[in-house]
Amino acid sequence: MKGLLSGRLQPTSRCCAGSRHLAAAAAAAAAAAARHAQRGSSRLMCSSSTSSSTTAAKQPVKAGKQTTNLADSEGSPFHELGLAEVNEGMGRVRVRQHVNPLASQYQQPTIIQDWAAVYADPSLPLFVDMGCGPGRFLLLLARRRQQQQQQQRMNYLGLEIRQPLVERSNKWAEELGVSSNVHYEWTNVSVSLAALLAAYPGPVSTLAAQFPDPHFKKRHKKRRMVQASVVAAARELLVPGGQVFLQSDVYNAAVSMRDEFEQYAGDVLQLSPLHSPASTFQWTPQQEAAAAAASKQPSDVARRQQQQQQHGDSSQEDSASEATFSSSSSSSSSSEQHDSSDDVAAELDSELLSSSEEQFVSSWAAGGWLVDNPLGVPTEREHYVTAQGGKVFRVLLVKQ
Ligand SMILES: C[S@@+](CC[C@H](N)C(=O)[O-])C[C@H]1O[C@@H](n2cnc3c(N)ncnc32)[C@H](O)[C@@H]1O
Repeated sequence: MKGLLSGRLQPTSRCCAGSRHLAAAAAAAAAAAARHAQRGSSRLMCSSSTSSSTTAAKQPVKAGKQTTNLADSEGSPFHELGLAEVNEGMGRVRVRQHVNPLASQYQQPTIIQDWAAVYADPSLPLFVDMGCGPGRFLLLLARRRQQQQQQQRMNYLGLEIRQPLVERSNKWAEELGVSSNVHYEWTNVSVSLAALLAAYPGPVSTLAAQFPDPHFKKRHKKRRMVQASVVAAARELLVPGGQVFLQSDVYNAAVSMRDEFEQYAGDVLQLSPLHSPASTFQWTPQQEAAAAAASKQPSDVARRQQQQQQHGDSSQEDSASEATFSSSSSSSSSSEQHDSSDDVAAELDSELLSSSEEQFVSSWAAGGWLVDNPLGVPTEREHYVTAQGGKVFRVLLVKQ
């Protein structure tokens, strides 16, 4: 099956009202469910959607054969989480390199009715990482902020469309003892963000979209995670003073996100004061074109092919070793390679995302791109990109 690494998605007609909605997440959530059972968890993802007993299938790990993921190894910022030890015995998580967020099984909104079954204190401010991938970023952010005791206590929510990653992230949170305020949810952000945030009892203080899949092809624009629905949710549901953080190593993807927020929420959001000349850099479409031309693979298509490969790598999991942390081509299956070459071939038809595809003229562009990550904690993809000397385009917005 094209692109499916871990097993066949099994359709199920089970509608899971009144139960924890992701059947395959049951193992990951069992401990948390027990802990919170008295609070009456009742969460919904009413859907005829796919569930999978096999996507979460773990490969048996033979003693001595488990290799430490580069993301967890010494020298990585995520090493301090100690996930190498936690992972022992968990086996590898294998996921599709990409999923199509427009597929019918991802169109039903995720609803969490009882947030008290998710977080010990659902009145705390909420930090949301949209498209969180493997999930290490939130674990590290939560840990760092806990160490900086002046920081207000928060809840952290990772939203991710690839279910096995969510299951493993929740296991990690459980194992690290932070599941009372760090939680991951299997969902399509473009479909569910508003419903999730609207029901959250506390203030929604930060939304982050970090290195989303760029979906270069114009005809795949609707697959990009930051859609009008996401901007509308931020516009309506972010607390005054709340923040939106956007970053990508793909210039046009960053421009696209920034412009989407400016166009549809520019009346209530503004650039953070951090966007001062001293802490930003300017980058224009002309510079981007020149950089592409000057790169080793000079054609735009070749450059995007390289980016596609890298993004494919970062999206693939057992990630970071094969993926986020390595520029080598992944240990992907032939079907996956087929996907990738399909994508590249399709790009030859010039259906490329370009900053000129929309005629919107941004006034936020004058505020430049932040040099540093204001959160102080990188994502997996960010760590990989910056370790390679890559440029990252960052914007921080504040709600009035
Ligand atoms: C390139 S990865 C970046 C992961 C992480 N943010 C990082 O910086 O390391 C993008 C992630 O977004 C997820 N994703 C893509 N579309 C999504 C959607 N509509 N809803 C939720 N997650 C999505 C992908 O599955 C993938 O894990």
